[in-house]
Amino acid sequence: MEENIKKLNEFLSDLEVMAIKLQNYHWNIQGKEFFVLHEKLEEYYEEIREQLDEIAEHILAKGYEPFGSMKDFLENAQIQEAPNEKITSSEIYQHVIQDFKTLQQKVMQIKQEAEKQSDYETSSIMDDYLCNYAKKLWMLNASVK
Ligand SMILES: [Fe+2]
Repeated sequence: MEENIKKLNEFLSDLEVMAIKLQNYHWNIQGKEFFVLHEKLEEYYEEIREQLDEIAEHILAKGYEPFGSMKDFLENAQIQEAPNEKITSSEIYQHVIQDFKTLQQKVMQIKQEAEKQSDYETSSIMDDYLCNYAKKLWMLNASVK
């Protein structure tokens, strides 16, 4: 179980950094696609915030402690923060696609680890995340053709 909780806390850290990063892009986007992407990014970070809460409460329900400080999140996240500077929509697409791929891979690892440990609750929760990220990647990739 411990290894799985560690992975869930790392995922939680990535979600926290991702939420801040998407909000950063929501504020700093410049260019022709402003109206579309500004709104889409808000939708994304609101959804990521809900996921964060679900994962933290899942860790609590299993009797463990979720991370709760920015220090812990930053130390354990694989996703990197974005600098606070203006950015174009094409750069945003590139970064966001990469970051959703990172989240997708992390979720796959959590599911595989959970199955090994017969932690079927965690495994089944991860199914929704896999579908969610796959759909996002399909749409984002279609947007940059
Ligand atoms: Fe806003």
